[in-house]
Amino acid sequence: MRRTRVHGWSTECARKSSASTRCWKIICDLRLPKLQRRAVEVNELLDQKLAFMESIFGQAGVALGTSFDPSLETVSADPEQLWQAILNLIRNGIDATPAGGEIIVSTSRAGREAHISVADTGGGMTAEQLEKLYIPFFSTKPTGTGLGLALVQQIMIEHGGRVECESAPGKGSAFTLFLPLAAKS
Ligand SMILES: Nc1ncnc2c1ncn2[C@@H]1O[C@H](COP(=O)(O)OP(=O)(O)OP(=O)(O)O)[C@@H](O)[C@H]1O
Ligand SMILES: [Mg+2]
Repeated sequence: MRRTRVHGWSTECARKSSASTRCWKIICDLRLPKLQRRAVEVNELLDQKLAFMESIFGQAGVALGTSFDPSLETVSADPEQLWQAILNLIRNGIDATPAGGEIIVSTSRAGREAHISVADTGGGMTAEQLEKLYIPFFSTKPTGTGLGLALVQQIMIEHGGRVECESAPGKGSAFTLFLPLAAKS
């Protein structure tokens, strides 16, 4: 059976001990459901899903901006898992952004790659935080699990893509998902 792990989890596992080791192992062994890939129009997916998020943005007092590249070709992806990854980024953006701020969801393409970005005008992160972002259980929130970004990374690896983040204290954060475009037939 194929088994994909987020790079670095095993090393981290080795560092943990006793009770937390058991919990850690369970998480390390967590596997996403097998991808149900199909040709996905990313802009359409975003339009559909973001339409249901109005009240969440409204409650947070955060504006939602979008900028979609109309020439974006389809990606071969599991739409629900892809949306889960995007949603985790949006949730983090909302958590980090004070009322009056903005989150911009945008798409673009470069070569044979689709880029999906979630940028916020929140507090941003230090270099130390940036280093730990994808380590399971890293959280600076009182009730955070610290698994949101580990899951984003796992989903991107499963899709043959990656996630990157640019951020600086006081300057907000921008996460970008990179996905290979579907092969042309
Ligand atoms: N957009 C962002 N702006 C500032 N900090 C962020 C942002 N996204 C992530 N972080 C930092 O990365 C940490 C890890 O994020 P992650 O999504 O993995 O877990 P979490 O949000 O803390 O918990 P959960 O996802 O379970 O609610 C956060 O606690 C926060 O410190
Ligand atoms: Mg999160």
